Amino acid sequence: MSGPLVVKIGGSTLGAEDTSFEDLVALQQRGLRPIVVHGGGAMITDWLDRLGVESEFVDGLRSTNEEALRVVIAVLRGVVNIELVAGIIAHGGTAAGFCGVDGAVVRAERYDPRLGFVGRVTQVDPALLDATVEAGVIPVIAPIGIEAPDQPLNINADTVAGEVARAVSAERLIFLTDVDGLMDEDGRVLSAVDRPGIEALRVGGALSGGMIPKVEACLRAAEAGAVAQIANGRLPGTLRRIIDGEQAGTRVGG
Ligand SMILES: Nc1ncnc2c1ncn2[C@@H]1O[C@H](COP(=O)(O)OP(=O)(O)OP(=O)(O)O)[C@@H](O)[C@H]1O
Ligand SMILES: [Mg+2]
Repeated sequence: MSGPLVVKIGGSTLGAEDTSFEDLVALQQRGLRPIVVHGGGAMITDWLDRLGVESEFVDGLRSTNEEALRVVIAVLRGVVNIELVAGIIAHGGTAAGFCGVDGAVVRAERYDPRLGFVGRVTQVDPALLDATVEAGVIPVIAPIGIEAPDQPLNINADTVAGEVARAVSAERLIFLTDVDGLMDEDGRVLSAVDRPGIEALRVGGALSGGMIPKVEACLRAAEAGAVAQIANGRLPGTLRRIIDGEQAGTRVGG
């Protein structure tokens, strides 16, 4: 049996007129085994603003103090995760919400004092995900990891998606975001790019913000044998088109 399909749904596409729920349910009914990882950057920013909690970005990653961490957890594991699970269920699918703390699926550690309670992934234990997928349920994962013994950490969702894809030996990793794919210096969407191509884009300054962790996650997953793709989740049917082999977005890595 082929490996699962890991889909990262960007906070940037949430609430848009997309068809990700329908597509996920249709793919599940076709026997593919989706695992969803989601972001929620815009909604976190919105809630931090509303609550008057300061936050800043360092190299595209959110710096998180203790107060911001509580908001991050509440918004991701609460609001966003439940919306996604309910959305899949509303479209006839079966889904269950998790974050990386549940089942200690995502182990993490702090790595940069400038970023505070932001983690990098040290290990993914796929047991709970495998069991969930085998039970015919789509796991929906909020990007929060656990640092031993009991500290939750905010992790970039793209990074979590890439590491989950590796741990479950995913067939594919698909990033649904708010742009048509990875763009070059001139704003042209590339249909495919390899590691040297990414390096050239980086050197040329074409990679910034949220695209940096995305391409890195793609390269990590591709290294482990997954087909990694970045595409526009706001266009109807993107997910199904990719699975059906149609051109959509940018294939990254091998
Ligand atoms: N070379 C590039 N090609 C395309 N987009 C780029 C590039 N460099 C930077 N970006 C930015 O990356 C953004 C997508 O990443 P972003 O983190 O904002 O969204 P997301 O990851 O889908 O959502 P979330 O972070 O909430 O999960 C695009 O909207 C674009 O502004
Ligand atoms: Mg992002």
